[in-house]
Amino acid sequence: MVALDGPSGTGKTTVARKLADRLSAGYLDTGAMYRMVTLAVLRAGIDPADAAAVAGLADGVDLEIGTSPQRPGFRLGGEDVSAEIRGPEVTKAVSPVSAVPHVRELLVARQRRIIAEVLGEVGGIVVEGRDIGTVVVPDSPLKVFLTASADVRAARRSSQDTAAGRQSTVADARESVERRDRLDSSRTASPLRAAEDAVPVDTSELSIDQVIVALCELASHRGLLAGCSAEAAR
Ligand code: DC
Repeated sequence: MVALDGPSGTGKTTVARKLADRLSAGYLDTGAMYRMVTLAVLRAGIDPADAAAVAGLADGVDLEIGTSPQRPGFRLGGEDVSAEIRGPEVTKAVSPVSAVPHVRELLVARQRRIIAEVLGEVGGIVVEGRDIGTVVVPDSPLKVFLTASADVRAARRSSQDTAAGRQSTVADARESVERRDRLDSSRTASPLRAAEDAVPVDTSELSIDQVIVALCELASHRGLLAGCSAEAAR
């Protein structure tokens, strides 16, 4: 089990999926779960800042999440919402929704169940989020905290948005990334922070493949699964 935490724009999702692939492990994108609840909140016409209403809705949200690193699927009430949960409306509203304690309780319990299931079936899992090493699985054998400078993170987010057909300047992306970091780090319930025993990895100057090589080394030092497969990460 690898816990991969850190703010947005550090390459977490790409790194987590490739690492899981190399380790022949499962993969869990916990941010996508908060995004699906947020989409349900927006679709219900609820104000994301109305914590009581958000908590009330959360119990009934029917979300499904896949754990394949090649094709993780995201479904809300049976509908594929993979693209919509990455859109600007959800990105803007996800921080207040994920700060609601009841939402966190529900999703953390669900995440622990999924992790236990995948560990039983596949033998390993890479889990990405903000509180995996601190709250979800504090006894994870490997915890990594990815960081990158604000400039690099904004540039990465902006090019991801552009690639997905959404208009975005680096300045917009920087404002969005910094706003979300501020909210995610200052909330009372499980704020974004590195676990004391997490290994910090600054990805500002590293390619994705270099990050994978570094994490594969860490994973093999900890004796995780059979280590990374020899094939280069693609
Ligand atoms: O990783 P992401 O950008 O898809 O995450 C979306 C939001 O969800 C992020 O702003 C904070 C929240 N989140 C969280 O609170 N805890 C997690 N384990 C994962 C994400």
